[in-house]
Amino acid sequence: MIRRKILITGGTTGIGLALANRLSVRHDVIVTGSRAHEDITEAFSPNLVYVRASQSDPARAVKTIAQQLLKHEWPRLDNVVLNAGVGFAVEDGLDEVAKMRRTLDINVSSTMLIARAMYPWLSKTKGTLTIIGSVAHKGHKRFPSYAASKGALNGLARSLRSEWAGEVAVQVLHPGPVKTGMHEKAGLNPGWVSEFFIRTEPMARMIEYSMSSRRSPITLSWSRYIGGGSITGRRL
Ligand SMILES: NC(=O)c1ccc[n+]([C@@H]2O[C@H](COP(=O)([O-])OP(=O)(O)OC[C@H]3O[C@@H](n4cnc5c(N)ncnc54)[C@H](OP(=O)(O)O)[C@@H]3O)[C@@H](O)[C@H]2O)c1
Repeated sequence: MIRRKILITGGTTGIGLALANRLSVRHDVIVTGSRAHEDITEAFSPNLVYVRASQSDPARAVKTIAQQLLKHEWPRLDNVVLNAGVGFAVEDGLDEVAKMRRTLDINVSSTMLIARAMYPWLSKTKGTLTIIGSVAHKGHKRFPSYAASKGALNGLARSLRSEWAGEVAVQVLHPGPVKTGMHEKAGLNPGWVSEFFIRTEPMARMIEYSMSSRRSPITLSWSRYIGGGSITGRRL
């Protein structure tokens, strides 16, 4: 087994944290988020290195991440998982401009800039860039900006996959609903339906197996989960 160097954005809670905790057992993992280190309340493996880089300011976030990789003497990366994301539910189909901008800055502009900036690190290992989209990329009446942002990531991944062919593998993974704090933060109460949302640990396993396959796009839906998608697959 190769001990990999892995960067995961949005690793302070939810899916990103579950993936980071899982991968840090066998690999070296740096995670990012916007909060202060002491405000990470969920179980955060002591093996993880934390970098605070708010993607509300995309140019600053990318600069911070690059500087911290150099500071930690990581000249190469085997995997980059661009997972940080937010969404806001709307009532009448129209987002407030500020929330629209926030969604696009964090989900799209930052992801685009970080992806490009990480190319020199990933190309040294012929590594893999994994972009976390959502099944919402197909459209969602309560989340128009979020859906648009995930649609943009689908296009970004397809573009980079073709541009970097033979150098760096690029994939986009589209999870279905996962039981995290994201819905509440988005102003949506899914109610009893959330009991059927996939838990973060099995989703992290499905993401790991998908990263290992390097295929794209992959939908990480309930039907994949029921079909054993979180049990069978190759570990990184
Ligand atoms: N939950 C679902 O049902 C679902 C379904 C499909 C796709 N997804 C996608 O999966 C990814 C993770 O979602 P999740 O459910 O795990 O949500 P979550 O629990 O709310 O986690 C979001 C992560 O993104 C980070 N983040 C948010 N704003 C940021 C900012 N301004 N700068 C840097 N990092 C920021 C958060 O860190 P801080 O809190 O420290 O800022 C946190 O680590 C997202 O891209 C989401 O769109 C989720």
